[in-house]
Amino acid sequence: MTSALYPDKLRLGVNIDHVATIRNARGGDHPDPVRAAEIVAAVGGDGITAHLREDRRHIRDADLKRIQDATDLPLNLEMAATEEMLEIALRHKPHAACIVPEKREERTTEGGLDAAGQHNQLAPIVARLADAGIRVSLFIEASEQQLEAAMRLRTPVVEFHTGEYAHAEGDARARELKRIADMAALAAKNGIEPHAGHGLTYENVQPIAAIPQLAELNIGHYLVGEAVFVGLETAVRRMRELMDEAR
Ligand code: PXP
Repeated sequence: MTSALYPDKLRLGVNIDHVATIRNARGGDHPDPVRAAEIVAAVGGDGITAHLREDRRHIRDADLKRIQDATDLPLNLEMAATEEMLEIALRHKPHAACIVPEKREERTTEGGLDAAGQHNQLAPIVARLADAGIRVSLFIEASEQQLEAAMRLRTPVVEFHTGEYAHAEGDARARELKRIADMAALAAKNGIEPHAGHGLTYENVQPIAAIPQLAELNIGHYLVGEAVFVGLETAVRRMRELMDEAR
């Protein structure tokens, strides 16, 4: 049954940042994240996710337009809540923008955005993105406090950070899963579309994919790592199969 509360299909957004990480390691143009985006489109991925970081350690400005030109898949731009990134988002008009916290020294996005504590800083950025027709999402921890903050900011989407879940084991993992499931249900009940991502792998994706209210998972590092061994096409297909089986 499809409804706003229970989307039939769980979309897979593939984060191609780390194709660019490998490219940048040698400073040339291979492997090209655009080619990765084309492969994702060819194997039935539902979207491309890319994080333009302040230090441009993986995706670069010029990649965004090239990705948009190369595929019809919706682009989900992950961005820090800064004037610089806002200006870039407004110029490129991606389908969606996911606001993430960003620290220069971190290796990856380590936690969720403090949407509750940063309401005043986020509100004008969310409003300007929304006015430009960009679907705004906030990358938050699965907590009531953060979800309520997203409601006050009126974002149509939240993405729950699954990093704690992915790193936990046993009972701790079960607790994390319940937290995400409860918050996905609460988000959907309040008209917010819940997504999830970070640290998802073949091994841990299915309990998350089984949460009926989730509409989208964004997965990157593991898929690009697997692609080294089996190819991106096979890796994306396998992830898709596991997600479908769980549903
Ligand atoms: N979703 C968001 C908002 C992210 O920032 C990231 C990457 O940091 C991902 C999903 C994908 O995480 P991973 O690369 O661990 O699969």
